[in-house]
Amino acid sequence: MDKAQILVASNRGPVSFSFGEGDALDYRRGGGGLVSGLSSVASSTDTMWVCAALSDADRAAAARSPEGRLDAAGFDLGGMRVRMLDIPPDTFTDAYTRVANSTLWFVHHMLYDTPNKPRFDAAFRSQWEGFRSYNAAFSEALLTGSADNARVAVQDYHLALVPRMLRQRRPDLRITHFSHTPWAPPEYFRMLPADIRRELLEGMLGADHLGFLSRRWADAFLRCCETFLRVEVDWTRRTVEFGGRVIRTGVHALGADAESLRERAAAADVEQWRARLRERVGDAELVVRVDRTELSKNIVRGLEAFRELLREHPEWRGRVTHLAFAYPSRGDVPEYRDYTEQVQRVAAEIDREFATADWSPLILEVQDDFARSLAAYRMADVLLVNPIRDGMNLVAKEGPVLSDDGCVLVLSSEAGAADELGEDAVLVNPYDVSETAQALRTALEMPADERRARCGRLVDSATALAPTPWFEAQLRALK
Ligand code: F6P
Repeated sequence: MDKAQILVASNRGPVSFSFGEGDALDYRRGGGGLVSGLSSVASSTDTMWVCAALSDADRAAAARSPEGRLDAAGFDLGGMRVRMLDIPPDTFTDAYTRVANSTLWFVHHMLYDTPNKPRFDAAFRSQWEGFRSYNAAFSEALLTGSADNARVAVQDYHLALVPRMLRQRRPDLRITHFSHTPWAPPEYFRMLPADIRRELLEGMLGADHLGFLSRRWADAFLRCCETFLRVEVDWTRRTVEFGGRVIRTGVHALGADAESLRERAAAADVEQWRARLRERVGDAELVVRVDRTELSKNIVRGLEAFRELLREHPEWRGRVTHLAFAYPSRGDVPEYRDYTEQVQRVAAEIDREFATADWSPLILEVQDDFARSLAAYRMADVLLVNPIRDGMNLVAKEGPVLSDDGCVLVLSSEAGAADELGEDAVLVNPYDVSETAQALRTALEMPADERRARCGRLVDSATALAPTPWFEAQLRALK
């Protein structure tokens, strides 16, 4: 097998499989910045993407092509190889569902209801072992698949231990780790057990370069290093010295992929959805949101803000409809299932309180339909993005890019995207339902000229760092 010069590692890969007719495997190329970013370098350099098999069909595909010749299956990823790891199910559950999604995600997004959770006990210790094994499986695949001096781009909190595992065995590798989430401040990170805090931070510091989506998250990481590892941070260069090496941090604020989004949003299925939705809502103004049903996205407070708008400003009843498209996510984590129910409950309450024979105040869909979401972006008068905390939030960037007639962005100050979009969005404190209701009203009442002008500036900021230069900047940081 040829060894790759550039390798990416992430839990979720660039492609997913499903069973087709007979023994055929159908595939779907994933979206997201990393896929477009890496696809663009893949044609000129030998590249490999290492990811986990996430379904039985993925596992079947991995078994057919253990060396990562999945690209030969016919999908176009610009020539890169994809190596899907068949992680034993129990190990995967411990690593992905328990440690990564039920613990690290909650810590970095500050989501715990602390009287009950977290609780670090013997069961957690055993899950942590699974997390280590999962990181070790990725490291093995990267070690085997990499050429001398290869560049390795490790993605996200799932794989925080990988950089150190690689460094210990292959000092020739040039390693970057990129965090797509926020990073918890030390005051919150300290709730993790001391040895686990250390293992996570030291794991990451195995890299040469650590990338973040916002200066806020990079600084929080450096403060954690100062607090828990007692190492010196150079705050001018934003580097940290550890194990005789200097590790650099960098901020790479991923932007929207305007070209491919616009192309996709012009397709016939999106047009059909646009017509269907318009027929359903008539000429009401549209407040749109599109999220995973994800606790950090703060969907419930968003719905409550919309309810407060209708209660406090009855003149808007009958004239505005809220389209809330929430696609299912992480259904194996109990908190996510409960949250989805809560979202549905509040939506039903709003409907009961305000709906009339010829007006729906709210259309909530908990179901994934990309074409429908794109249609909603195009039609939105107001786009509501109010996460409690978010690494970046690409909806805030993609929505304005696709808006047909200029939308107003109501945006949480706690999303990484607020760094670049804050001036032209209407910023809100995500916990403040009344402020969010007021922001929705301001947005709905904004004169059309101002709406369009602001939206134009949002598009400029949102597309400043497209996926290809974003990924190239990570690689350049390793030169
Ligand atoms: O952006 C952070 C992230 O965890 C990605 O790593 C991930 O692909 C995405 O959110 C969605 O989460 P999941 O892969 O668990 O569905």
